[in-house]
Amino acid sequence: MKLFIKKKISQFFNFNQKNRDVPVHDSFKKNLYEMDQNTKQNDFLRFINDKQFKFTDDWITNKTNIMLNIFENYNINPKEILEIGVHEGFSTIFFQYAFKDFHTDVIDIFLNDTRKKFESNINIINPKNIDIHQTTSHNFLVNNKKKYDLIFVDGGHGYLDVIFDLFYSFQCLHINGLLLIDDYDWKDENKDKSVRLATNNFLDVIEGSYDAIHQGQFAAIIKKKNVVLNQQL
Ligand SMILES: C[S@@+](CC[C@H](N)C(=O)[O-])C[C@H]1O[C@@H](n2cnc3c(N)ncnc32)[C@H](O)[C@@H]1O
Repeated sequence: MKLFIKKKISQFFNFNQKNRDVPVHDSFKKNLYEMDQNTKQNDFLRFINDKQFKFTDDWITNKTNIMLNIFENYNINPKEILEIGVHEGFSTIFFQYAFKDFHTDVIDIFLNDTRKKFESNINIINPKNIDIHQTTSHNFLVNNKKKYDLIFVDGGHGYLDVIFDLFYSFQCLHINGLLLIDDYDWKDENKDKSVRLATNNFLDVIEGSYDAIHQGQFAAIIKKKNVVLNQQL
């Protein structure tokens, strides 16, 4: 009997979860960014082919057109980039392609042999401006004192991972810095809710301190003001 009730409750809960859509955050609705074909994107695709990188997964090329448009329209020319979650380096290579004269800190736990794959891809273009931090984003961010002009959040996709990465990233973003939040529209059961829900909750707290630039496969905001999140004693 007890088991039956438990099963019913969990069925009810799952039913509600599946049907409870997390809406797009209000701040994006006023401010949707239009997508034009960016000629640089085709050049990027050619560049990827020519260099013969070895990527098992491609989670980035279908987002690069709108990213390039954002970089152009908002004059994004970062000197310091932070990437949370780089896997085999596809997004890192994209930023290498998109910008000149900058430095990147990349953070990843690098499961299995992904660090090797990351390094062999990156070494194809021989960059001198990348520091690899093989650790959790939590470990890196709580000790970080540096400020960045662009931060790409694409590490752990659970609610706590995302909300933690977002709050800490916002703290170390320069005013007018760009925060890119991957997978805002993730359709995987429950996980989409985590990224979107965490992002929406984060945006509620930092209300009035950012411009919403874009939402879709990723979300993009520009920081406009510092926010004090810890208690000032
Ligand atoms: C979706 S992949 C990143 C893809 C990459 N940005 C790209 O576009 O090719 C997510 C990465 O985040 C890393 N990751 C997951 N949880 C993490 C954490 N807590 N701290 C740091 N990295 C994490 C994983 O090892 C994985 O390589």
